[in-house]
Order: sequence, then C-alpha cells, then structure tokens
Amino acid sequence: MDKILVLDFGGQYDQLIARRVRDLHVYAEIRAYNRISPDQILTEDFKGVIFTGGPNSVYDETSPHFDPAVLDLGIPVLGICYGDQLMAWIGGGKVESAENSSEYGKTTVFTNESPLFRDVPRETICWMSHTDFISVPPAGFTTIAHTAKCPCAAMADDARKLYGVQFHPEVTHTVCGTQILSNFLFDVCGAQADWTMEDFVEKSVRKYKEELAGKKVLLALSGGVDSSVAAVLLHRAIGPALTCVFVDHGLLRKDEGDFVEQTFRGQFGMNLIRVNAEDRFLAKLAGVTEPERKRKIIGEEFIRVFEDEAKKLGTIDILAQGTIYPDVVESGKGDAAVIKSHHNVGGLPDVMAFERIVEPLRDLFKDEVREVGTQLGIPRELVWRQPFPGPGLAVRLVGDITREKLDMLREADAIFRDEVAAAGADQMTSQYFAVLTDLRSVGVKGDARTYGCTIVLRAVTTDDFMTAEWTRLPYEVLERAAGRITNEVSGVSRVVYDITSKPPATVEWE
Ligand code: XMP
Repeated sequence: MDKILVLDFGGQYDQLIARRVRDLHVYAEIRAYNRISPDQILTEDFKGVIFTGGPNSVYDETSPHFDPAVLDLGIPVLGICYGDQLMAWIGGGKVESAENSSEYGKTTVFTNESPLFRDVPRETICWMSHTDFISVPPAGFTTIAHTAKCPCAAMADDARKLYGVQFHPEVTHTVCGTQILSNFLFDVCGAQADWTMEDFVEKSVRKYKEELAGKKVLLALSGGVDSSVAAVLLHRAIGPALTCVFVDHGLLRKDEGDFVEQTFRGQFGMNLIRVNAEDRFLAKLAGVTEPERKRKIIGEEFIRVFEDEAKKLGTIDILAQGTIYPDVVESGKGDAAVIKSHHNVGGLPDVMAFERIVEPLRDLFKDEVREVGTQLGIPRELVWRQPFPGPGLAVRLVGDITREKLDMLREADAIFRDEVAAAGADQMTSQYFAVLTDLRSVGVKGDARTYGCTIVLRAVTTDDFMTAEWTRLPYEVLERAAGRITNEVSGVSRVVYDITSKPPATVEWE
C-alpha cells in the first residue's frame, strides 16, 4: 500500500490534509517535523511528502525547520503555506515580509502550465492565509503561479518533483484543491489509489484471525461509534473469543442500554456482558454537584466495575480499545489545549495485567470508522450516532443527581430528539440534547400556579467540537418539542433554547 507522509509544522490543518489525501484513496500518515528524519522517510518508503502550514515565520530562531536533505531524497515533496516558504528557505531562496503582502481568504490565483495544475484553469480561486511570501524561489525552481500581491503563489522544480503552494489546497474554498492534490498524488508521486475501507476490513479480519488465534480478548463497549465498530470488527475475526463488557452506569439516554444489548447480543450474537451498575454509580454520586468531581467519580467507578467483571472472566490475554487516529495524533503532540478533563469512560484499567492492547481503529479517521461500521452491517443509527459524553447525563443535569431527575431529563431529551429527527432537522445539527437545570420558575397549569423545573434545549453545528455554532433549528421544531415536554414530562414548567456558541460557552452545560 502506498503511503504519503504529512509532515506537521504546527498548523491546524494537518489532519485535514491527511483526510483529503485519504479521500483520494491514498493512505496518509501524520508525523511531527521533529519526530522523523530524512533517512527514516526513505526507509519507511513514503511515496511523497507534504509539508503542512504552520503559524510561524521561517526567520524565527524557534520556528520549526527541517533538514534540507529531504529535498534530495528523490521523493516528491509538496509544501503548503508555511511548508512552501520553508521549502524555499531551506533550498536557498528568499522569503520576505512586507507591510501590504498579507493575503487572507479567497484570492484569485493565476496559474502557469505545470504537472501540478493539470486540469486547473489559468485563473482560479484559492484560499490564502499568509503574511510572509517567497520573493526569490530557490535554485532549480520556477514560479508557476502568482496573485495580484504575491509574486510567487506556487513554485516547481519538475526535475526533482518538488512543488510548493502558498495557498491551502486542502480547504474547500480552494476551488481546484482536490484536483491539485490529486495531480500531486497520482501524476507526480505515482501513488496507487488503493486505500479503501473494504480492503481495510478484509485485511484487518485476516490479520487479527492470525494474530489473536487462541487468545481471549476483552473490550469495554460503550455503545459509541468507535468501541462498537472495534467490537464488530474483532468479532468478525475471532468470534466468541471476544468478550464485550457493557457497563450501564444508569446515566444513559432513554432505552439506550436495551438498544446496545439488543444490537450486539441479538443482531451480532456477540458475547456481551451487560452490567447494570446504576445503584453503584448513583450511590457514589449522591450529593455531588461539582462537574469535574462527577466526571472523576464516574471514570473511577467505571474502572472498578470493569475490573470486577474482568476478574470473574479469569485470565484475559488482550485488551481491545476503540482508539482512533485523531487521538493518536493529538497524544503524539502532547500539547493540545485541554479545556475540560474529558475522562472518557472506558479509560484503561492499568492495574490489570494484559499481554498487550489491540487498537484495530488506531489508523482511521472518524469518517473512515463510520464507513467501516457501515460495511460491517452495524445499524445506521449507531454508526451515525451523535457524540455522547462518557459521563453521560451526569454532565447534563446541573446540580446533584437523583434517579427522579435522571428520569425527567431522559424523557425530555427523548422528546426533543424525536421531534428533531421527525422534522429531518438532525441533518443540520452535529449534537443536540436536553439539559435539566437546577432552576425553578413559576408556571401556570389550568387555574393553578406551578413551580417547576427548567429544561434547556441545546443544538450545535460544528466540524471538530473545538468551536461550535448554535444551530438555527426551525421554530416549529422547538415549539413542538417545548409543547410536548411541558405536557408530557411532569415537573417541567419551562423550556428554553440555548443560543450561545462555543466559545464562549462549551457544548455541554457542565
Ligand atoms: P464541550 O462541552 O467541552 O464538549 O464543549 C465538546 C464535545 O465533547 C463532549 N464532552 C465529553 N465527552 N467526556 C466525553 O467523553 C466528557 O466528560 C465530555 N464533556 C464533553 C461533548 O459532548 C461534545 O461533543
């Protein structure tokens, strides 16, 4: 299988570049610039290298630089934005900064004839975001595009198969971005388009059948997309040698536990142990109001419950986990801004002894995981499930947690989700749910005054959950949901819609 290296210089687009390459069915791997050398690039047999953008200026002492030997490996390189300037810099060209040289946003780019621009018009719109620019390309390079402000918007050394673009071909605003990436991958690098999820499933099943023969494997199934897909994939490889433990902490949405049980035990015939641990969790959470403390208690209790179950199973050789590629990339960087301590329920119980850990999805992006799930016949509502936090409804219930409040929230949430889905509005939002606040307000029912709870409805639209816009759900949907909630959920007298984006608010209320 052909591989492309995405060499990360600290930009925010590393994962997007890798995803675009994979959308073209070529496998792409991300590495930080200081974690790989030109020698390794050769020995690991990459078909091509893409330098990402980055926030720095090549002049800065502290800017990420790279060994110029990379330009003479005989492996094609495409530099993007900072990567383009870096290529010019290490190749001996000149990068400058001028007061009026910045370009930001959609910009008309005039292109010349070049293998990189096959089937790209001579005048095309590209996305720019830069201040520095290349004033003199390095020896061997010629300018192959310019803009009104930027004398060298792209450069090429056809003999060495080195290319640089000042704009971002990976963002959708660059009209011919996919064509340019495709030209680089197939015409310049000569890569094969052989990265497909059918192949991935087939190869993984074959690999785990061999590798895990005779082993007992344990997996913590949450019912989320990643652990579900990992479970079904491994089950296809090793069948009953896989045991899944599903800890129902009592903080799930309405009917969710039954759905998980019915899907994995019923539909797939898997060895599934459902642990109904609601009492244990609620006892530990009694009276706790501080959100991070709730998370901590749930994370710790989850491990205890999981350990207890694992002990009952006797010797287990291998622990399987649904880690996916963005987790691997982020933990490799080690400096991702963390706003909340997102202890995903399902953290590794490190006191347990396993021969090793198997992570069948660690090379896949989320959309690839979903495709694998679809190929494996996992129900659509599970594969396309909206994210649900590990600590569940505990972080959607402001204040202390009781069974009664949980039931109230579950009902309101189910009605809201029902109405959104019935109107087809689930297509316009990335995550939508109800929150039960600790705020009481006066209402009126018949002739009597009530003093009931306040439910918040929240819906956000986002690509990556780092930032999010509140979703403009149709008023009719909100109206129907609010009407039904106040009528059908006893104790609720008011429903409000959260119109705060992130930042400044987070998606969850706690
Ligand atoms: P926030 O509230 O931080 O949410 O804007 C961003 C995304 O993360 C999810 N989230 C969590 N997921 N454990 C999780 O597994 C958590 O403690 C947690 N808190 C928030 C949230 O649902 C949203 O998708």
